[in-house]
Amino acid sequence: MANEVGWIGLGRMGEAMVKRLLKAGYQASVWNRTRSKAEPLAEYGARIVERKTDLAGCEVVFTMVSTTDDLQEVLFGAGGLVTGANKPQVVVDSSSISQEGSAEIRAQLEGMGVAYLCAPVSGNAKVAKAGKLLIVASGPKALYEKAQPYLAAMGRKAMWVGEGELARVWKIAHNTMFGVVIQNLCEITVLAEKAGIPRHVFLESINDSVLGSMYTRYKTPMLTNLTFDQVTFTPRLLLKDMDLGMGAAKAHGVAMPAAAATRESVARLVGRGHDHIDFAVLLRETALDAGLELRPENVSMSDGLES
Ligand SMILES: NC(=O)c1ccc[n+]([C@@H]2O[C@H](COP(=O)([O-])OP(=O)(O)OC[C@H]3O[C@@H](n4cnc5c(N)ncnc54)[C@H](OP(=O)(O)O)[C@@H]3O)[C@@H](O)[C@H]2O)c1
Repeated sequence: MANEVGWIGLGRMGEAMVKRLLKAGYQASVWNRTRSKAEPLAEYGARIVERKTDLAGCEVVFTMVSTTDDLQEVLFGAGGLVTGANKPQVVVDSSSISQEGSAEIRAQLEGMGVAYLCAPVSGNAKVAKAGKLLIVASGPKALYEKAQPYLAAMGRKAMWVGEGELARVWKIAHNTMFGVVIQNLCEITVLAEKAGIPRHVFLESINDSVLGSMYTRYKTPMLTNLTFDQVTFTPRLLLKDMDLGMGAAKAHGVAMPAAAATRESVARLVGRGHDHIDFAVLLRETALDAGLELRPENVSMSDGLES
């Protein structure tokens, strides 16, 4: 596929991902709703365009926006990518969106002769920056194989899970666990601290136990030092994903009691007005519910995600 790609959506994730493509020698033309976020990419060789339709001449266009509605809007809304006479041959989307919404998008794109690959990712912007994302794709297998060089430039591993929207189900399942794990990690950390174990000591012990994971380890510095202003992912995006999880559970007839309880806890967090802050602020809220006021422990530690 072509050396020049188009890119829509330069938030935390999109910016880090397109930089990987630029670093790998691809040329990228980029568009972001808030243009000021696109401008720093010029320094990395990206061409910044005024309109989404300016990307229609690219063979492949990547998208990384927030929700299903946002993806619909950048593709089919006013001035959308595929609303002009010229259209790209392929759209590769990495946003975390619903299975149903993705199927509607596929039907519309394929109806216009535009191929569509779902390529959601596991990993935050720091992981993306280091080229360590896991990318899980679905759609036509031949298309996945053609897109491999781009995926290899953006992640440490890419997998194809099947036709259609199956990668959406994968991402929804993944982020449901992402929510449930942080919920439980916050609960048990508050329990341990209230009983007398220093937070960093407790977290270190969990990280070194059979229960520790890359996820618990990389959240540990933030949970210890309460640096919630270093946003990786917002409570609102997590609520979107828990809602996608509950929707998928209903659609497929699966009871998910742990996910349901977590969904309500994250909804309360959002309702209390916590947004431009990391979702790990759930720890502070859990502590408040237990009558415990947390203090930063100011322990120097690595999150293990350095490139
Ligand atoms: N952060 C993570 O750790 C992570 C990890 C894996 C997957 N994800 C998923 O990746 C997606 C992006 O996450 P993020 O953390 O990068 O979010 P973000 O920083 O909030 O960025 C969202 C991007 O989407 C654009 N956007 C949103 N609505 C739009 C609309 N209606 N029209 C045009 N552009 C629109 C935003 O443009 P503006 O700049 O103009 O606002 C921005 O470029 C989400 O689906 C998220 O669930 C996130």
